[in-house]
Parts: sequence; C-alpha cells; structure tokens
Amino acid sequence: MELNPFSHEFHENPYPLYRWLRDHAPLYRNDALDFWALSRFKDVRDASLDWATYSSAEGTTLERMDPRLFEARPMMIFLDPPRHDRLRKLVSRAFTPRRLAGLEVFIRTTVTGLIDRLVEQGGGDFVRELSMPLPMDVIFTLLGVPEGDRHWLRERMDLSLERDRDTPVVPQRALVAMAEMMQFWVQFVDELRRRPNDGLVAALLDAEVESDDGTPSRLTDGEIVGFCSLLGSAGNETVTKLLANACVLFARHPEEYDKIRHDPALIPDAVEEALRHTTPSQYQGRVCTRDVSWYGRTVPKGSRILLLTGSANRDEREFPDPERFDVSRRPESHLALGYGVHFCLGASLARLESRITLEEFSRRVPRIEVDESRCVRVHMSNVHGYESVPFRAA
Ligand code: HEM
Repeated sequence: MELNPFSHEFHENPYPLYRWLRDHAPLYRNDALDFWALSRFKDVRDASLDWATYSSAEGTTLERMDPRLFEARPMMIFLDPPRHDRLRKLVSRAFTPRRLAGLEVFIRTTVTGLIDRLVEQGGGDFVRELSMPLPMDVIFTLLGVPEGDRHWLRERMDLSLERDRDTPVVPQRALVAMAEMMQFWVQFVDELRRRPNDGLVAALLDAEVESDDGTPSRLTDGEIVGFCSLLGSAGNETVTKLLANACVLFARHPEEYDKIRHDPALIPDAVEEALRHTTPSQYQGRVCTRDVSWYGRTVPKGSRILLLTGSANRDEREFPDPERFDVSRRPESHLALGYGVHFCLGASLARLESRITLEEFSRRVPRIEVDESRCVRVHMSNVHGYESVPFRAA
C-alpha cells in the first residue's frame, strides 16, 4: 500500500488506505517521496502539541518550502514559537470576537441571497454558486478588499494551490499566481497606510504588544502582507470544502439531514461531525528537529513527517463506528481545526459561516439530491473536497 498525497485515486477516497495505515503501519515511511507519516489519533494529537520537535518552519504540506522565501513576509502558520506567538498575539488584537460577531448579519444576508437563487433554479452547483462565493465574500469584506479585485484574487488563490498528478513539484502556474497575489497585498497595505479605513487590516497597522523585554512591538508591513495572504487562502478553501463535503454527506444520509431540519439546535454539532468525518485539511506537514522514535523505529532529525488528521479523525481507537456520519455524535475532540499552538485562528469564523449556511439551507431545501458521478474533485496537496457538486433541491 502506498500513501501518495498527489495521487488522484487517493483524493477520491483516502479512507481505506488510512485504515490500513493505522492498523499495519502507524508510523509509515515513503522512500520514493521521502517522508514519514503518523495516522493514529493519539499520535497525531501528541505530535501536534510538540512544536519544538515537529517544526512548521519548512511549510505544512509535503512540498518543502525554503523558509528564506517567507523571511520578508512571514506567515504565522510557517513559524515556530516564539516568533509565531508574537505574530499571533498581534493579529489577535484586531481579529476579535466582537469584529467577528459584527459579521453575522452580513453573512446571513449573503447566504440567503445565494440560497434563494439556487432554490429558484431548483438546484445548481453547490460549490460554484454557494460554498465558494460565500467565504470569499466574508474574508474579503473582513479584510476590506474592493469588490472589483475579488474575482481576480480568488482565481489566483485557486491556481496557487493546484498540483499536478503524482508529483510534489509545485507547478509554474501556481508559483506565478503566488507572486501575483503577494504583489496585490503589498499594494493593498501600501494604499491602506495612506488611506486607512475601519477594517481589520487597518486595525493591524496600529496593533501593539509588549515584547519580552517590555518594549512595545508592532507588525511590519511585510508581516501584515503575510497575514493577508495567509487569511486569504486559509479562510477560503477550507470553508468551501467543508460546506460542499457537508452537502454530499447530507445527500447520502437524508435521515441525518432530516434531523437538522427538524431540530436546528443540532446544527453546531453537525458542523463538527462534518469536520471530523470528511476533514477538509487532511494532513499537517512538519519537519523533525531531532531524532524521534515511534513504534521501534527512528525518524531522523530533518525528516519530513505528515500528521494525518484526516485519518486521526476516523480512528476507531478514539471514535466508535468512525465511518458513520452521525450529527448527534458530538465529536468534541476531533483534530480538523488543528491542535496546539497552530490551532485554527479562524475556527470561530468557520463555525459561524457554516452554522448560518446550514440553518438557512435546511430551512429552505427539504431534500438534497447529488449526482456523485458528476461531482469533480480538487487536486490539491492536503485539501480534500470538491471543485463542483451539482445538486437538485427537491
Ligand atoms: C472549515 C474551515 C477551516 C478548517 C478545516 C481549517 C483548518 C485549519 C488547520 C488544520 C489549521 C492548523 C494548521 C497547522 O497546524 O499547521 C489551521 C490554522 C489556521 N487557520 Fe484555519 N481552518 C478553517 C478556516 C479558517 C478560516 C475561516 C480562517 C481565517 C479567517 C482560518 C485561518 C487560519 C490561520 C491564520 C491559521 C494559522 C494559525 C497559527 O499558525 O497559529 N482558518 N486551520
């Protein structure tokens, strides 16, 4: 059995392979692609907590990144403490619960507009007409990106994540898209410095924390550009995938859909269960900063190691009957939003967007029908989900 995160067959259904890994190779080694992987819940959770041993500094996908590439525009997701903690503390000054709560009305209005159109048509493409435009509008509104730039930016984001079949080499089109996005954010921050508004990014310009020696510290323009770029991709792709995965799950399990239709109080649990069952971000990549020992073998210092959260969330050692999608399960301990210092900064926003979408969708659509033979998968390194989900609102 081979774990190849770039294989299209693997993207289609990684779960039988994960089960085999957990049972037969809980520490897995792939010589050809030169990486190791942990697949059991407890192992993935423990390693996620130990940032000193499992470093994020060379990126979190299988493709290694040269940390020098990000020196000028650092992103917290690719930094270890203490640099990570300083950035996270600073952006948390602007990324407040109050600012997020202020988005609720905007999210509901956007969601209902998108769903009403789908209902009128009797269905459509769940991804292209709902789960993709929604988080894009939310993040771009949060950051204050002008309407006219949004479509262009979203296309670049998609391109930057595309990978070719069976190879870890980042394609040229993805590199070009990344460079174009960076350029956009540089100009965006520059413009805000000259003409500040009341958005999140403008608030970041003034955010201040005390360094360890007591001196005040602020974000540099490069750090703000890195943050915008990170939020732009982290806040879009994953929510798009979660919602479309949920749509397919509810079409497969109409009895679970009926539960949330009749009892909307179950929706927050349903969001957690969809995150657990079909995890949008399937693994977190790390590099070992020292030799480590797992299951009697040594993983040498400097090795690439994947923490397979997608597998951990289906581990029967942690979740009874893990393959079953059950909205009343209350899976409090899943790892779909990460664990430890890098726990998803946007978790509350992701939950808010997903809850409102499921509330409004289940109120308007009595039954979902999805023709899975016409669904199209995305082929990204660690993002699991669909590019297109044609559905009928029955
Ligand atoms: C369902 C949606 C989402 C999923 C499944 C998800 C998943 C994750 C995961 C697994 C991590 C940990 C990465 C690691 O350990 O290397 C993470 C971190 C992060 N996420 Fe999310 N995310 C979602 C939505 C969002 C949203 C909406 C935003 C922003 C508005 C966001 C921003 C971030 C940021 C900034 C980090 C880095 C935090 C740090 O390094 O301290 N995410 N996310």
